[in-house]
Amino acid sequence: MKIGVFDSGVGGLSVANFIQRALPEHEVILREDKAHVPYGTRTPQEIFGFVVPIFQELAEAGCQVIVVACNTVSTNLIEQLRARFDIPLIATEPMIKPAAERTVTGIIAVCATPLTLQSQRYHWLKQTYAKDCTVLEPDCSDWALMIQNNQVDISKLETRLSEVLDAGADIIVLGCTHYHWIDEILQDIARNRAVIIEPEASIMRQLKRVLAQRA
Ligand code: DGL
Repeated sequence: MKIGVFDSGVGGLSVANFIQRALPEHEVILREDKAHVPYGTRTPQEIFGFVVPIFQELAEAGCQVIVVACNTVSTNLIEQLRARFDIPLIATEPMIKPAAERTVTGIIAVCATPLTLQSQRYHWLKQTYAKDCTVLEPDCSDWALMIQNNQVDISKLETRLSEVLDAGADIIVLGCTHYHWIDEILQDIARNRAVIIEPEASIMRQLKRVLAQRA
């Protein structure tokens, strides 16, 4: 089966690699929107206009499912996109629920783009699953571009992470797929103080369910 994977940029490749390794019998078709990355500082309407033709292309290429490997698109536009396309769309969202279940200090940090943090869906996730937690949102507004351009500034990451670690966060949610490329650096900075949570296992569970239905 053909599985479409979409992100604004290199975040998609991290997810596509994961899926292709886990499901070698399927064909993964990755599309990125390098012309418009980063999405996280744009408006949802603008992004919708970029994404529709790309999803159309993936559908025409025969993809039976599209993994929206972008928290920014998923949290802001998934309902609109699902209304537009017939094929299943798998969303990627900040892992608030598992973070709230695992925290011991009651303090979690969510690293995500400004648009993800502003979305109604993100507020709903926090309200529904983490209302008894303190949720910290460090300023990661320039991380996606930094990673996209392969110009990772480790001291900047240390500063941002130290703020939330010093505030007591013991779970750090990676709410942007670009950040998967720096998870080892972040793990190193957070060593013995916080656990980093990423969404791949959850994406795979949803994807396997959809593939089983379509088989
Ligand atoms: N990788 C994307 C995400 O998961 C978007 C990053 C961006 O383009 O700003 O949110």
